[in-house]
Amino acid sequence: MNKSGIVSLALALSVLVFSCGKQEATPSAKVGLIAEKAMVVSAREEASQIGLEILKKGGNAFDAMMATEMALAVAFPFAGNLGGGGFMVYRMADGSVGSIDYREKAPQAASKDMYLDEYGDVIPDLSTKGALASGVPGTIAGIFEAQAKFGKLKPAEILQPVIDLARNGFVVTKAQAERLQRNREVFVEVNGPETFFAKEIKEGDTLKIPILAATLERIAKNGRDEFYKGETAKILARHMQEKGGIITEADLAAYEAAWRDPIVFPYRDLKIISMAPPSSGGITLAQILSMLEQHDLKKLGHHSPEYIQLLVEAERRAYADRNFYLGDPDFVKIPVDQLLDKEYLKSRMSNFSFEKATKSEEISEGKIAFAESMETTHYSIVDAEGNAISVTTTLNGAYGSKVYIDELGFFMNNEMDDFSSKPGIPNMFGLIGAEANSIAPGKRMLSSMTPTIVEKGGKLWMVVGTPGGSTIITSVLQTILNVAEFEMGMQQAVEAPRFHHQWLPDLVNFEPDSFDSTLIATLKSRGYLINEKNSPIIGKVDAILVLPDGKLEGGADPRGDDKAVGF
Ligand code: DON
Repeated sequence: MNKSGIVSLALALSVLVFSCGKQEATPSAKVGLIAEKAMVVSAREEASQIGLEILKKGGNAFDAMMATEMALAVAFPFAGNLGGGGFMVYRMADGSVGSIDYREKAPQAASKDMYLDEYGDVIPDLSTKGALASGVPGTIAGIFEAQAKFGKLKPAEILQPVIDLARNGFVVTKAQAERLQRNREVFVEVNGPETFFAKEIKEGDTLKIPILAATLERIAKNGRDEFYKGETAKILARHMQEKGGIITEADLAAYEAAWRDPIVFPYRDLKIISMAPPSSGGITLAQILSMLEQHDLKKLGHHSPEYIQLLVEAERRAYADRNFYLGDPDFVKIPVDQLLDKEYLKSRMSNFSFEKATKSEEISEGKIAFAESMETTHYSIVDAEGNAISVTTTLNGAYGSKVYIDELGFFMNNEMDDFSSKPGIPNMFGLIGAEANSIAPGKRMLSSMTPTIVEKGGKLWMVVGTPGGSTIITSVLQTILNVAEFEMGMQQAVEAPRFHHQWLPDLVNFEPDSFDSTLIATLKSRGYLINEKNSPIIGKVDAILVLPDGKLEGGADPRGDDKAVGF
């Protein structure tokens, strides 16, 4: 690998370490929480509990979504948010499916070269830190739109326990205290010494955020327009402009979440329902699984060299397509049918051999007949009626752009970095982009978020998703395969060690100390470049599996403070 490849990989990995929290994966055959009827699994116990409380009050999964998402914004400001965006995939008890896109949008004043200097080079940090890194937030629009269409309770009733949480406080965990400590200097750099998170916050402290309680109270009273057209919008736009950003009141007023048809595809006896563009998750997952379907994975054996090779080679080819063809469907035409065509995907794997690794430099996007051209958290909910939702939401990096609006009590995203600032130059996840994902006013940046629901025999079977930037897709993939091919339970599948490849840089990442040295040596002898020692945890999966007796098993990732609750 050349020097710039190594530098971008190191950058990408350090972002993942700090975005997702470093903790080693511990494989076990532990069984997760079993519940009779309903379950919420999220990154914080408080958020899972508040979601469950809403379900117990007679709310459904969409009411619980609003509660859980906002409780994460309070107790998990690292990724939970009002200043970010996300995606939700649903499956109703009657089998109907859909999804909502509440991804951030580029402000109207954004432009293609806004992060480049006079020589056309990317200006370091501009798309990741500070007010210019933020897209127009979509979270409040998304949760209100989903709740209004399918929910049963009143937003004010749903938000009350969240307001109480912000006002009365939550107990800071060890991992949380460490993350806040690690970022304190940059919070001060971006927001000044008086900013709320400049203070020292220790494990076990009760953290109260009264300003956020007040913001949530206004939203509970005035609805989604409070955020996009009310006092909150005015404060937000003024603050961003004072900080050198470009988000205006008009950008906020114009924001709308979008209902999208999910990507639905078969894998053996399963039907998989996942997110469509502007997330790459569904298409890339479908491509990888289709390439794998031609092989007997069970026979190869879990984490055998050949199993890993096969996944890596399918991932290599799918990510090459992802990076070239995918972007916001409202701006670019995406050849979805061709990308998912079985014959096309078969041909993509035709030069694969178990003898030797394919080199990423020999792989580019597939040539297909196409006329017109081309830090995050997940929660899963199943309610007592059998409705399921899978939601991934993010500020992008840890605490997003680090811009904290002290008058409102929340961080703003740095999602603009998910655009391709310059074709061929990697973003913070080491992903190389192309024209399809270039910046334009009002456009949504390409995502890897993969909220997914799986059916078996026409019935709900699994709800799954994770944070992890570019590793999201491969983490969801491995979790599904762990259960579908290797008969693991949900908790066991979530805990199993993971690996990742994303075409460029041409490197297989393994979670540290989780894979045996003989396996690594075998892969090296077959030409694979391996990164294990400096590799962080990969993904933080929160999932629910419907067991054969109809009960639910939660999978809460021990790589974080994640928690399954249910009844
Ligand atoms: O949308 C995306 O793909 C990224 N903004 C997700 C960021 C993420 O998962 C950070 N977590 N480690």
